[in-house]
Amino acid sequence: MPTAIISGTGSCVPEKVISNLDLEKMVNTSDEWINTRTGIRERRVLEEGKATSDLAAAAAKKAMESAGVSAADLDLIVLATFTPDMFFPAAACLLQHRLGASKAAAFDVNAACSGFLYALSVATQYIKAGTAGKILVVGADVMSRVVDWQDRNTCILFGDGAGAIILEAGEDEPGRGVIDVQLYTDGSLAKILQIPAGGSKMPATVATVNDRLHYIKMNGSGTFKVAVRSLTESARYILRLHGYTSKDVDLFIPHQANQRIIKAVAEYLSLPMEKVCSVVDKYGNTSASSVPIALDEAVRTGRLKSGNLALLSAFGSGLTWASSLVRW
Ligand code: UT7
Repeated sequence: MPTAIISGTGSCVPEKVISNLDLEKMVNTSDEWINTRTGIRERRVLEEGKATSDLAAAAAKKAMESAGVSAADLDLIVLATFTPDMFFPAAACLLQHRLGASKAAAFDVNAACSGFLYALSVATQYIKAGTAGKILVVGADVMSRVVDWQDRNTCILFGDGAGAIILEAGEDEPGRGVIDVQLYTDGSLAKILQIPAGGSKMPATVATVNDRLHYIKMNGSGTFKVAVRSLTESARYILRLHGYTSKDVDLFIPHQANQRIIKAVAEYLSLPMEKVCSVVDKYGNTSASSVPIALDEAVRTGRLKSGNLALLSAFGSGLTWASSLVRW
């Protein structure tokens, strides 16, 4: 069975920075509150007229460049997003055209903030089954378009971005690459983190717009508790399943939602913070792009080296959560 090797990474965030001080002027909050409750100092916001596929294309080009792969070589594009440019076609189709990846089939995966690990799971199956040799996997979300900038409970948390990897079939590299991705869903918790309107249940009307129902609604403390529990349990399970303990982990790359969540999970897993990758202070929660952006930064800064064992974990709306082990 071929091994699924991550041969390149890339990421892209918009240039425009919104700091906590900027937010103080928009809602009743403070830099001190945001920083102590979340660890976030600033986030990036995409300019008007641009969309998810623009960020995805920029991240994808960097990943292809670092892997030495051209768009024409790609067999498949899997794009994790819940903020596509439009309802349809899928943002992955727009991305395929932008890149000129004419041979690649392309589709979106929607698992909100867990999306990248869901997309990685899908792509890994294609590689292991031998039906694709080179796959572009992207996580990209433009949260600034679905965040209510009048709601201090949510607008302080999120940012825009994209992260990408190239996943390739490796024939003679046993032990390297994606060891496993474990996925979980609990739809009974759908209501604690959702955008109520805009779909087939509640299409856009003047009333839904006036009631601000096209924006993220979140039960923050409920989400926090499930996040800590699900990240910890899924990480413990995948380690045990493959005969590892947290001592074997060289780098933990969790979903970047809140520094307090990251720290709590690291403590439960007995992982020192030196082994934890956190970029939440710079970008906030960038949803499906948070894990691949952090991964790309870890690779480019030399924190993740050949032979290292990386543990990747994410959670998000659905609720969905996932953990993955990758031998770099
Ligand atoms: O990808 C998944 C996405 N979602 C998440 O990861 C969210 C997970 N949850 C969290 O990160 C945290 O629950 C929050 C950061 C959202 C909130 O932190 P918390 O420590 O759970 O605060 P809280 O919700 O219990 O609120 C404490 C107080 C409340 O005031 P009262 O009711 O005690 O008077 C809030 O109204 O803080 C107030 N508050 C704020 N104050 C200043 C809530 N947001 C703000 C704000 N600035 N931005």
